[in-house]
Amino acid sequence: MHQLIVTEDGSHTLSSEKFGVTYHSIHGAIQESNHIFIEAGLKYICQQSKNISILEVGLGTGLNALLTIDFALYLDIIVEYCAIEAYPISLKIVNELNYTNLLDKPNLQQYFLEIHQSDWNTNIQLHNNFPLLKKNNLLENTNFKSNIFDLIYFDAFAPNEQPELWDDAIFHKLYNSLKNKGVLVTYCAKGAFKRILKSCGFIIENLPGPPGKREMVRAIKP
Ligand SMILES: C[S@@+](CC[C@H](N)C(=O)[O-])C[C@H]1O[C@@H](n2cnc3c(N)ncnc32)[C@H](O)[C@@H]1O
Repeated sequence: MHQLIVTEDGSHTLSSEKFGVTYHSIHGAIQESNHIFIEAGLKYICQQSKNISILEVGLGTGLNALLTIDFALYLDIIVEYCAIEAYPISLKIVNELNYTNLLDKPNLQQYFLEIHQSDWNTNIQLHNNFPLLKKNNLLENTNFKSNIFDLIYFDAFAPNEQPELWDDAIFHKLYNSLKNKGVLVTYCAKGAFKRILKSCGFIIENLPGPPGKREMVRAIKP
């Protein structure tokens, strides 16, 4: 169902049989996650607040969550993390992923495993700095309260593979779930997608993408 692939920075990604795509850029999974979600998202929002609420669309391998907990521990900030995932990966695959080895942070392996092993749909205190809620649900069927998130990591598969996750109803819902000055970051910078973001009320920033990708998007709720 999933095949393990080594990307160009040495970090693993998965290839999904169901969707016919990889979970990350083949140019480097850690490199891509750091560039888009940590550098352009988390570091940016940290300038506004030191108590941050994040929604991740597509927990997948847990790489974004791992890099986020690493950052939260390093800066000693609290990051409340809510992740949606419709199709969780198996623990067998989780145990094969090389992220904490490659980051040379063996102390994070315990948290990485707990990210995957902890119960779904339950509030978990994974660490004092990292309360976690994983929702095992389709994004389309998930509703959120208004004004609750500071930052959204939008990491669904690409519009060609999953057009239903890139339509305006989804982004209206996500816009509404963000606080004012809240931010959504994603790797997709297609014109049609940016028009949808604008129609929801987002201000768009086009930023340089990670290696292999010209642009990415940071969208801000004014
Ligand atoms: C690009 S991958 C996510 C990569 C992930 N952030 C990581 O660091 O590994 C997209 C993820 O979205 C999940 N997904 C696919 N359809 C979904 C849906 N309708 N609702 C929620 N999650 C979905 C997939 O199972 C996959 O884990």
